[in-house]
Amino acid sequence: MPLPKAELHLHIEGTLEPELAFTLAHRNGITLPYTTVADLRAAYDFTDLQSFLDLYYALTDVLRTEADFTDLTRAYLTRAAAQGVRHAEIFFDPQAHTARGITMDTVVNGITAALDTSETDHGISTHLILCFLRDRPAAEAMDTLDAARPHLDRIIGVGLDSAEVGHPPTKFTDVFAAAREAGLRLVAHAGEEGPADYIRQALDLGVERIDHGIRCLDDPDLLAHLAATRTPLTVCPLSNVRLRAVDTLADHPLPALMDAGLLVTVNSDDPAYFGGYVDDNYRALAEHLHLDRERLRTLARNSFEASFLPRDRKDALIALVDAH
Ligand code: ADE
Ligand code: ZN
Repeated sequence: MPLPKAELHLHIEGTLEPELAFTLAHRNGITLPYTTVADLRAAYDFTDLQSFLDLYYALTDVLRTEADFTDLTRAYLTRAAAQGVRHAEIFFDPQAHTARGITMDTVVNGITAALDTSETDHGISTHLILCFLRDRPAAEAMDTLDAARPHLDRIIGVGLDSAEVGHPPTKFTDVFAAAREAGLRLVAHAGEEGPADYIRQALDLGVERIDHGIRCLDDPDLLAHLAATRTPLTVCPLSNVRLRAVDTLADHPLPALMDAGLLVTVNSDDPAYFGGYVDDNYRALAEHLHLDRERLRTLARNSFEASFLPRDRKDALIALVDAH
């Protein structure tokens, strides 16, 4: 039985397995530029974040209808349950779809149809986080927030993702202020490929968690600040290796981050592309970094602690880790 855990850094579009991509392409009358599943998987040889994003955005083309988004989300929840996930805070990238003529309603209604039955089907509570694409204009992010307003009862917060370098958090000061004004929680990808200063800028936006954040190790004062404020990092080890932010798992800075007193969590990012779901990340860490059971339990406790759940539910889920 895997450890009970929360997943806090998971792009729903990044859970599109090649088999489902072909199924949806067929259903929607789309011809993919790959002939077989093996052919498509062979394209998953990334050199950096951008080389991954190029394929990730290309494959979103198979997602056209509410049913497509529901099937994608259901498939993720089924896999997550088998990995011990009891709570998931799920990112989605509306601009990757609205830019192709798919409406915000289609995307949100499709995803939430699956989330609505997640507790009964899988015992997984869920939250949804809307991410802005940082490599597109700030004005488009503001339009996206406005388009999402009718759905804000289903969206707990906003995040910031896509190509990091050259797109600093300060570009999105106004839209993050508007999101906060609308009562939304704030997170942002920072310090994945970009510098430690982008983590500082993300904190200035008012974010409560940093997604990735591994580059904080380059800035001792920032590291001390993150530890003192218990600001969570949602770290994604297999992603970091596949996108070459880190050379090998054995070189991964996760133990150094824990030793520095940070509230570190382990997550899968885009599991269909990076060779494993969230418990596969825990197992890979145990194997390659020799993390013992108590460290793994600390990571699982941290995942609930760093979530946007109410205190009583956090405590109930942390008690499950203690009893595991
Ligand atoms: N979108 C999906 N996965 C991402 C990642 N790891 N970094 C930035 N944007 C993303
Ligand atoms: Zn991510």
